Amino acid sequence: MQIGNLTFDNYPVFLAPMEDVTDISFRLLCKEFGADMVYTEFISSDALIRHVNKTKTKLEVSEEERPVAMQIYGKEIDPVVEAARICEEARPDILDINFGCPVKKVAGKGAGAGMLRTPDKMIAIAREVVKAVKIPVTVKTRLGWDNDHKIIVDLAEQLQDCGIAALTIHGRTRAQMYSGEADWTLIGEVKNNPRMHIPIIGNGDINSPESCKQAFDRYNVDAVMIGRATIGAPWIFEEIKHYLTTNEWLPKKPFDYYLSVLKRQIIQSVNRLDERRSILHSRRHIAASPLFKGIPDFKPTKIAMLRANTQAELFDIMNSISAI
Ligand SMILES: Cc1cc2nc3c(=O)[nH]c(=O)nc-3n(C[C@H](O)[C@H](O)[C@H](O)COP(=O)(O)O)c2cc1C
Repeated sequence: MQIGNLTFDNYPVFLAPMEDVTDISFRLLCKEFGADMVYTEFISSDALIRHVNKTKTKLEVSEEERPVAMQIYGKEIDPVVEAARICEEARPDILDINFGCPVKKVAGKGAGAGMLRTPDKMIAIAREVVKAVKIPVTVKTRLGWDNDHKIIVDLAEQLQDCGIAALTIHGRTRAQMYSGEADWTLIGEVKNNPRMHIPIIGNGDINSPESCKQAFDRYNVDAVMIGRATIGAPWIFEEIKHYLTTNEWLPKKPFDYYLSVLKRQIIQSVNRLDERRSILHSRRHIAASPLFKGIPDFKPTKIAMLRANTQAELFDIMNSISAI
C-alpha cells in the first residue's frame, strides 16, 4: 500500500491521533511495538498561527518514529492553510486534516466533525491545503453528521478529487460521539466503490488481533487505525502484527515485562518534558491500562497511582504491585 511516496507492508496498522495521549514518548513506544505509522495529537490551526507555546510543542517529531502524520484542525480556509505550511516545516511525513472530532468546543464551532454539516467548506479546505504543501495530505472523518446524513460515500469521492492521498474513516456519526458500535459497512462501501483509488484506512472499535484481522478480511481496507485500545497498552501492536502474519496469538509475557513498558514510557516522557507534566500525562494511560484489570482489591492501589505526584512515588507504588 502506498500513501504518496510512502510504501507500507501488507496489513498496515496505525496509531490513531489522540489528544493528550499520542505525545512523542507514546508514539515512539507504539512504533517500537510495530505501529506502521503514528499520528500526532490534533493541533489547532488558530493556536498554531498565534504561536501559542503549548501548541508549538506538538510540532516536535523524531526521526525514529517515522513515518509520522501530523494532524491539524480548523474552521476557516486561510488559517488552516497557514497552519499546514507551519506544520510542513516541522517535516512530518504526512499532513492529516481532522474533519471528525465530535467534541462541542471543536465541532460546535464548525471545525472537526462540524465540517460534515458544511461539506463544501470541507472540500475547499482540503483542496487548498493540498495545493499549499508538498507532502501528502490525508483526511480523517466520520460517516456523517447523524444517522439521517451519512454522506461518506459521496464525500469520499469529492475528497479524492481534491487530491488527498488517503482517507481515514471512523465508523460513527458525529451524533454518536463514541457510543454504540462502529459501523464498518459504509467504510467497506467506500473501499469497494470502483471510483475510489486512494487508500482507505478503517477506524473504530478495533481492540484485539482478531477484530483487526476481521476488519482487513471483511472490509478490504488498506490499513487499520487503532485508538483507545492502545492507551496503556502500546504492546497491542506487536500482538496484532504477530497475529496478522501467523494467525496465532503471541505468547503472553510476564506481568513485570508490561509494567516495565509503562515505566519506560514515563521515564522517556520525564526526560523529554518535565516530571509534573509527564506524571499528569501518564495518568490517562495508567487509568486505561488493561494490565491492571482483574487484580483483586486493586482500586486503592490504582487511586494511589493516579494521585502520585512524582516519578519516585509512582514507581514505588508500581513496584509493589504483583500480578495475579
Ligand atoms: C482521548 C481521545 C482523544 C482523541 N483525540 C483525537 C484527535 O486529536 N484527532 C482525531 O482525529 N481523533 C481523535 N480521537 C479519535 C480517535 O482517533 C479514534 O478515531 C476513535 O477513538 C475511534 O477509534 P478507536 O475505537 O480505535 O478508539 C480521540 C479519541 C480519544 C479516545
